[in-house]
Amino acid sequence: MTLRQIRSYGPGMPTPIAPYDLTGRTALITGAASGIGRATAVLLARAGATVHCADRDEQGLARTAALITDKGGTAHAHPLDVTDRAQVRAAVAAAGSLDITAAVAGIMHTSSVLETRDEDLDRVFAVNFKGVLYACQESARAMIEAGRPGSLVTMASGAVDTAGPGLLCYSAAKAAVVQLTKTLAAEAGPHGIRVNAVAPGWIRTPMTGRHSPEAQEQTEAAMVRMSPLRRVGEPEDVAAAVLYLASDASSFMTGQILRPNGGVVMPW
Ligand SMILES: NC(=O)c1ccc[n+]([C@@H]2O[C@H](COP(=O)([O-])OP(=O)(O)OC[C@H]3O[C@@H](n4cnc5c(N)ncnc54)[C@H](O)[C@@H]3O)[C@@H](O)[C@H]2O)c1
Repeated sequence: MTLRQIRSYGPGMPTPIAPYDLTGRTALITGAASGIGRATAVLLARAGATVHCADRDEQGLARTAALITDKGGTAHAHPLDVTDRAQVRAAVAAAGSLDITAAVAGIMHTSSVLETRDEDLDRVFAVNFKGVLYACQESARAMIEAGRPGSLVTMASGAVDTAGPGLLCYSAAKAAVVQLTKTLAAEAGPHGIRVNAVAPGWIRTPMTGRHSPEAQEQTEAAMVRMSPLRRVGEPEDVAAAVLYLASDASSFMTGQILRPNGGVVMPW
């Protein structure tokens, strides 16, 4: 939908949800075997995109692909490690004419600053920063070579807005993702490529559910208290933000951070 169509909206015009329609688009989603990545793959497929799901968890990938194809969508599975550039490049090539990449794969790590080891830092940066960098570089290169516009969505975190004990590796890698997002947005914009980050608050996924049931309950209760909306976030809440950024609905957005966080943090 063009700006002119929006301004002259009336009977017979496309509905306001038309800009969210991804029919004919091709999307690559990393981390698609679980949590936010899975919800994103399912939602983008429901919006009409052909979805290429990438993850190191083959069983989880198969489950995501089945969720999509069972509803009549189109999904392809790419088992890969996002820290291996050649594997990421191969998935981008296999996807063909790529329009959208959502770099969602990530890991959690906690250790105090004084106890953080080199190997912790290297592992978290390899997945959470380099994995996102490789997906963005290879996708943007392919889009530019094909002369196609596109949308890249990176997965940051609310951890970039606050500091908490134990979160040095994780939040530093996510802060690097924000800088990557803004820098690439500045560089790739003239090619018609938009780059935006999503920075979710606490979301109920396997990543945040690896605690004891009691600890889980306490964390969720705290999140409900802290959110003006009085509920915890679900993967679909983040997927909706990715859909917005992936689609033409956000055609004038680039270099921005979108925060599906239930209002727990309200930065400028
Ligand atoms: N859950 C939250 O509260 C929350 C909040 C803010 C940001 N995030 C971010 O959202 C993203 C998804 O998190 P989630 O909560 O859905 O977690 P999750 O653990 O459910 O999913 C992460 C997925 O990434 C995949 N992955 C991890 N390392 C990989 C690698 N090297 N190669 C390929 N795939 C790999 C895993 O197999 C898994 O399928 C992460 O980047 C995370 O940091 C999550």
